[in-house]
Amino acid sequence: ANPDTLDIFKALDAAATFFQRQLATSERARAYLDQRGVGEAVRAQFAIGYAPDGFSALKDALGTDARRMNLLERAGLFSKNDRGHVYDKFRDRVMFPIHDRRGRVIAFGGRVLAAPADGRDAGPKYLNSPETALFHKGRELYGLWQVRQANPRIERLVVVEGYMDVVALFEHGVTVAVATLGTATTPDHAELLFRNAPDVYFCFDGDRAGRNAAWKAVESVLPRMRDGRQGFFLFLPEGEDPDSIVRKEGAEGFEARLREATPLSRFFFDTLSDGIALSTLDGKARLAERAKPLLAQIPDGAFGDLMQQRLTELTGVGARQAAPEPSAPIRRQ
Ligand code: CTP
Ligand code: MN
Ligand code: MN
Ligand code: MN
Ligand code: MN
Repeated sequence: ANPDTLDIFKALDAAATFFQRQLATSERARAYLDQRGVGEAVRAQFAIGYAPDGFSALKDALGTDARRMNLLERAGLFSKNDRGHVYDKFRDRVMFPIHDRRGRVIAFGGRVLAAPADGRDAGPKYLNSPETALFHKGRELYGLWQVRQANPRIERLVVVEGYMDVVALFEHGVTVAVATLGTATTPDHAELLFRNAPDVYFCFDGDRAGRNAAWKAVESVLPRMRDGRQGFFLFLPEGEDPDSIVRKEGAEGFEARLREATPLSRFFFDTLSDGIALSTLDGKARLAERAKPLLAQIPDGAFGDLMQQRLTELTGVGARQAAPEPSAPIRRQ
């Protein structure tokens, strides 16, 4: 990396340290984490911090000269108003540093505490760093570095939606959780997941958004389903997320749900057959029509063959050879 990049890493690291120190002095932020059940060990493991209220806490502490200001800006830590004035992007938020594969801070997610008492709008519940030279959110997984630190061998990964879901699972000893960062699972995520573990469980929230996210994950994962890799889907009751479930049911309850997760193959055909009468040939044709372009994306191998075979069982429509070239051109008079 060029020296400039190293300096941006240093600015991010200094910011993370600054936020951690602020957490140590903020009664209110610590009370919030207490109330959410995040203990000291996990706070340290994830380097969780707190960005104080006000527009220039970080700027005043670390932006002590023009060069430092420039690095903090390129690290994505400032916002700019239309008159070009630069101010702290993260204010009065619990800060979750996002680490890269080597444990370096590359970005932050910040969550609002309770709504401010004076009725000000606290903005969106979560705020993430913008894309920067170091941070491409479609390629990063929150928690992956911590998972790798905690496990000499990673047998499985559990993909969840949120920072708090990852942290709550770690708090309960389920140290295999990672989160996409407010985006759908991308093909880059799918590759990164399977490069780290042969079994990947997708466990999104029990709401419409969560179910849609699960199908997006299917679409991203299919082109990465080489033989030996297994995908599973875990559906939580309406209104629950992994954080709320593990708090209610403990690690045992969550593990029991993992054991009953739906294999990718079943989720795939169940979802595509939804609303289709498979007793009719019209319905079978519709399922075949929906499934074929997706199955075509599975890499060559047994998994793809078996999925095709299953489609044939369900519809009677087998893999069809491309129409043969006519042996002689058809003459038109
Ligand atoms: N998210 C986001 N911006 C928002 C809301 C959500 O980027 N305005 C992302 C965050 O990464 C968040 C995830 O989507 O962690 C899941 O959102 P949601 O289920 O609403 O939040 P929770 O993580 O369950 O938040 P909490 O339990 O802290 O209320
Ligand atoms: Mn880049
Ligand atoms: Mn949700
Ligand atoms: Mn949630
Ligand atoms: Mn939640």
